[in-house]
Amino acid sequence: MSDFEVILYEKNDNKGYITLNRPKALNAYNIKMRDELFEVLSAAQDDPEVAVIILKAAGEKAFCAGADLSEFLTAPPPVAARQARFERDIWGLFLQIKKPIIAALHGYVLGSGIEMAMCCDIRVASEDAKFGVPEMGLGIIPAAGGSQTIPRIIGRGYALEMLLSGRWIIADVAKKIKMVNRVVPRSELLPTVEKIADKIRSYDWTALTYAKRAVVEGLDLPLQNGLGLEARLGSLLLN
Ligand code: COA
Repeated sequence: MSDFEVILYEKNDNKGYITLNRPKALNAYNIKMRDELFEVLSAAQDDPEVAVIILKAAGEKAFCAGADLSEFLTAPPPVAARQARFERDIWGLFLQIKKPIIAALHGYVLGSGIEMAMCCDIRVASEDAKFGVPEMGLGIIPAAGGSQTIPRIIGRGYALEMLLSGRWIIADVAKKIKMVNRVVPRSELLPTVEKIADKIRSYDWTALTYAKRAVVEGLDLPLQNGLGLEARLGSLLLN
């Protein structure tokens, strides 16, 4: 899997590293990136050597500056777009990944960039990270699940403020509102993420996927059903 154009994929010590790699365009999310991410996420999910996935981005300035605006202006007709979305439901895939995913966020984290981060399980940001949802300024709404995932993580009030007023926030604020788990100096970003990943991969890999499933699926269930899910997964694991 080395012949990707806009994604890099590497493996080391049971960690699968997915790197957004369009630094000159601030890693703007384009159709190529969607297709390559789809392929690489599926591969990382299926790879028996990978226990934990790290999502990061190349270049100094940005994790991802949102959807590629040059493609946005030449969007395919709605029927073709819907067909492509059906065939390559990247956000559905992202949210169904069973392995833990950690995001390493730096610089601009905008639009689809935030939405990708929201599909991850643990988010670590560097001090220079800036978060924004600029869709309103383009007369559109989030299209990568952001209207659902962002409020589920930071709550309705902050999500709506960011979405409706276009407010950007810096890393410290993102931590305060629980959009990210930790904020670290830029030089510490990858080492911190790797340290977390190494701790995770030291545990039983099946237990990890069950624990993730219990939390992620359970959040969408009433408490009683969530408790039932936990009990089922717990006994499956013991058996
Ligand atoms: N789509 C396509 N290209 C993008 C892009 C995007 N979303 N964001 C940045 N780029 C490109 C720029 O066109 C520029 O390319 P060039 O060097 O060939 O001219 C390059 O990335 C660097 O961006 P630039 O605007 O020069 O950097 P900056 O530091 O001055 O500004 C931003 C950074 C993020 C504030 C600015 O690029 C921006 O507002 N981008 C659009 C954000 C957005 O609305 N995203 C869509 C969300 S739905």
